[in-house]
Amino acid sequence: MDAKNTAKSAALAVGDKKFDMAIKDGTIGPSVVDIGKLYAQTGMFTYDPGFTSTASCESKITYIDGDEGVLLYRGYPIEQIAEHGDFLETCYLLLYGELPTAAQKADFDYRVNRHTMVHEQMHRFFQGFRRDAHPMAVMVGSVGALSAFYHDSTDISDPTQRMIASIRMIAKMPTLAAMAYKYSVGQPFVYPRNELDLSSNFLRMCFAVPAEEYKVNPVLSRAMDRIFILHADHEQNASTSTVRLAGSSGANPFACIAAGIACLWGPAHGGANEAALKMLTEIGSVDKIPEYVKRAKDKNDPFRLMGFGHRVYKNYDPRAKIMQKTCHEVLTELGIKDDPLLDVAMELEKIALKDEYFIEKKLYPNIDFYSGITLKAMGFPTTMFTVLFALARTVGWIAQWKEMIEDPGQKIGRPRQLYTGATRRDYLPISRRK
Ligand code: SDX
Repeated sequence: MDAKNTAKSAALAVGDKKFDMAIKDGTIGPSVVDIGKLYAQTGMFTYDPGFTSTASCESKITYIDGDEGVLLYRGYPIEQIAEHGDFLETCYLLLYGELPTAAQKADFDYRVNRHTMVHEQMHRFFQGFRRDAHPMAVMVGSVGALSAFYHDSTDISDPTQRMIASIRMIAKMPTLAAMAYKYSVGQPFVYPRNELDLSSNFLRMCFAVPAEEYKVNPVLSRAMDRIFILHADHEQNASTSTVRLAGSSGANPFACIAAGIACLWGPAHGGANEAALKMLTEIGSVDKIPEYVKRAKDKNDPFRLMGFGHRVYKNYDPRAKIMQKTCHEVLTELGIKDDPLLDVAMELEKIALKDEYFIEKKLYPNIDFYSGITLKAMGFPTTMFTVLFALARTVGWIAQWKEMIEDPGQKIGRPRQLYTGATRRDYLPISRRK
């Protein structure tokens, strides 16, 4: 936990000048030095590429204590929500700040369920993609296209339209994700069934075929729901910051979420679950682990252990522990006794957590380390792993976007830079260039 700050201001000395800046305290976590007037006072910017020491906003949604491995959604520990709650309840909590009463939950579930279908023209929109397109490319395209279908909920100045757009995003992401999967395997799209809960509905839209009845496995559906809970929000990560920055210009929510999906796709972020499973498959067997651990520690080798390390967690990612437990539940339910990938993952974790390099750099498994094994066992191809991450994170993106839009002090995000390029010079006609 952070040492409680007691100072109310910070002083910056530039040459013989001294500048005082206010210190703001949060309810928990690090305090901040308000540098909003620094440029006006000193003519200088701060410099923090990657924002390792920069708070981009004030938020009440999610709190992470990286040193203690703590994750709170609106103050509730992720372990308790994952154990006792469901994904739609988590969506309500993240959006509105409190756990819903029974009546509020029933109303919210009803409202989401009434928006699970997509415009029928979206089916034709999908036909424009190659069948072998990466499902994340399809998601970036189709979510961005939602603003071409739902004009009646793109005016962000209208709270009613903002609410409808939020509900539409949460309700339609499972349908679009399932369509992206079905399209990639050449099977017909499956319409949502509103008598099912969100995760059961999603599994059915992915794996039901017209040729036979589909029966939802409650253990797999519960596991899917818990995986969505674990991925729902994570304070100002790269894709959430992308959504906030896109939203700060007044772009409509569908376009902002499409921007978030594009950012999440990167292997250093949400793409790590797909990359982690590829890495475990490449390692292949326990005896090959030392060679890969050696490569991960070699500065001249770009290889990194995917699913390990985190910008904020310098302790075990609390989500990874729940993910590991869910992984065992799913493999047991499916009668998968000795999954070689799980053997490699468990042994790799054991070796890495004892290795000086990983200890010194505080590198622990993150949420992406076990999710791939679980999702593969459930029948998803690796190309769908980040799509599932995006499906779950949509509520976090929407909640953070809503918080920003409703902030009266909100303004367009516009960082500055340290310029080290050419100084002013006159144009040279091509005849005189050497
Ligand atoms: C997610 O931000 C979020 O909250 C993201 C997320 C969310 O829910 O939104 O939690 C989801 O993106 C989880 C992270 C998934 N990514 C991976 O698993 C990819 C592998 N991990 C790394 O790429 C890395 O750990 C990051 C990108 C996750 C974090 O990078 P940082 O904070 O910029 O840390 P760094 O790259 O500066 O690493 C610090 C040191 C470096 O060594 P030095 O330069 O100090 O000598 O640790 C080393 C790195 O080389 N290091 C690793 C490593 N991760 C960091 N070495 C080997 N294997 C790794 N996985």
